[in-house]
Amino acid sequence: MDKQFAYQKCINPACSATFGCDETLFCCPACGDLLDVCYEWDNAPLPKSLSDFAKRWAKRNDRLDFSGVWRFRELLNFCPDPCKVSIGEGQTLLQPNPALATELGMNPKGLFLQYEGMNPSGSFKDNGMTAAFSHAKWVGATASACASTGNTSAAMALYAHSCNLKATVFIGQGKIAFGKLSQAMDYGAQTIQIDGDFDDCMRQVQDVCRQLKIYLVNSLNPFRLEGQKTIMYRIIEQLNWEVPDWIIVPGGNLGNSSAFGKAFMELKSLGLIERVPRLAVINAVGANTLTELVNDKHLRWNNGQVDNKAIRTYYDKLDATGFRPHTVASAIEISRPVNLKKCLRAVAVCNGVVLAVTDEEILDAKAQIGKTGLGCEPASAATIAGLKHLLADGIVGKEQRVACVLTGHLLKDPNATVEYHSHMARPFSNPPMRSANDLDAIIALIK
Ligand code: F0G
Repeated sequence: MDKQFAYQKCINPACSATFGCDETLFCCPACGDLLDVCYEWDNAPLPKSLSDFAKRWAKRNDRLDFSGVWRFRELLNFCPDPCKVSIGEGQTLLQPNPALATELGMNPKGLFLQYEGMNPSGSFKDNGMTAAFSHAKWVGATASACASTGNTSAAMALYAHSCNLKATVFIGQGKIAFGKLSQAMDYGAQTIQIDGDFDDCMRQVQDVCRQLKIYLVNSLNPFRLEGQKTIMYRIIEQLNWEVPDWIIVPGGNLGNSSAFGKAFMELKSLGLIERVPRLAVINAVGANTLTELVNDKHLRWNNGQVDNKAIRTYYDKLDATGFRPHTVASAIEISRPVNLKKCLRAVAVCNGVVLAVTDEEILDAKAQIGKTGLGCEPASAATIAGLKHLLADGIVGKEQRVACVLTGHLLKDPNATVEYHSHMARPFSNPPMRSANDLDAIIALIK
């Protein structure tokens, strides 16, 4: 694949400015809106059916065929093959979970968990980083940076090695789980802790990158989101190329939900799927900008005519009241999601819903997921906590097929897990038992 038929395009239909993929922009220079990567599909060779991608599984010694991202490269062909970076990302599985389905009162065959914790850095971010760093390598970047609640920094620090880029991480004060911080430090990234939260870091990192010409790998970067589309390809691949009824995903900076909507929009327009699934984006109650804007302020994609004034008024109010987001799901503790508009588009394309769940609901759901076989970090469990509401409200049917994206590994945030299980009063807690150093006393405890 040596020819690219890709370009960047502003998502604002009133602007629609286009730029080459060899430009490093991250927002539209003409109007400041978000950028998409678009393709001239008519000129690009595409497989006739989605199942053609699966044949590449057999060629595990070909690094691009082995990658769970680049296996689908015709659907994200924005740079030449030699620039494509891979460290084995995307070897992730869609796991049926009949036990949890039954617990939730669903058809036991209806619930699937897409376990993105199996990625090299332990979260879904690797899907995006492999794409962003491939672009960075192509445009000759020498240094990378991100703001992060933890997982982006871990993934960036890891991928920066594969193309010899420097890596600088911006994190908020006391806002990062130790599993993630330890990765960034161990992989050699420079870590700068700012007196502020993620939203402050996000603002600063954009200015730093602009001034110092550093390559930004946050999900503002449209190339990163191209990699995250493949999570959806792998889900439908495992369902024998059938689309589930629902995709459920946690919402933070709203990169994933945006990428998923784009993936389905493209597959449908290419005739590779017949229908798009519905999408549920789940916020934490303490960081629920999307939920408030969509459900209370009725903000919509509206064919790209998004009500910017409503967004500005909302953010002004956050500023005026000194609001700071807070949730145990630190990964999604974000109140100014940069991909808000793309997420609104995804919600429109997928007839989506958004809602917010409490920390208690997140932690209970996390323990239930763990108990039935797959550990995850708190943000990921927002999916199952959200699903409970959607089932109770009759929005998701008990007989429907639902795929929840478990975005990060259990070991990312062991403190949250140990803290939960240390309390006997929690509904799903499993506290350690104490025993005298005595064989009979120990045997008496064995259940
Ligand atoms: N789940 C996990 C485990 C995350 O790390 C994140 C985001 C999300 C969900 C939310 O995804 O931003 O695409 O809506 N983490 C970012 C970070 C913000 O810096 O690691 P999103």
